[in-house]
Amino acid sequence: MRLTATVNGRARTFEVEARSTLLEVIRESLLLTGAKEACGVGECGNCMVLLDGEPTPSCLVLAPDAEGREIVTVEGLAPEGALDEVQAAFLEAGAFQCGFCTPGMVITAGALLRDQPNAAAGEIKQALAGVLCRCGSYTKVMKAMEKLAGRGA
Ligand code: FES
Ligand code: FES
Repeated sequence: MRLTATVNGRARTFEVEARSTLLEVIRESLLLTGAKEACGVGECGNCMVLLDGEPTPSCLVLAPDAEGREIVTVEGLAPEGALDEVQAAFLEAGAFQCGFCTPGMVITAGALLRDQPNAAAGEIKQALAGVLCRCGSYTKVMKAMEKLAGRGA
């Protein structure tokens, strides 16, 4: 079946299987490999994208349900390979090790700061609780986020 959606600001039309997930389409059809598959069942948050502006595990969305919607992947956060403010803060803080969870963290963190620019530490932790980091980079993620939210060093 044919799917039309806006992906990273661009209207895209492509063929999908009715049972494909949005994550499969993003990675395999669009070759946007920032969103990662770890659990595949909605528990790790490593596959987060913005779907109509909301952080959403793309492994839980059937591709046909993305028809007509706006999808933003980590590749679409900043133009021309630049870094957005969350990516830059993560880089400065060294808020990753293997980086597998980082796209999900960045997508989720950016949406939080968009909605709550002065988010408190507890709110940041709550927002990021759905993104699991097997390397345990949480302390430096919090350092980056608290700086962005205006309270860090
Ligand atoms: S791969 Fe989607 S939540 Fe884990
Ligand atoms: S940095 Fe490796 S999973 Fe988070």
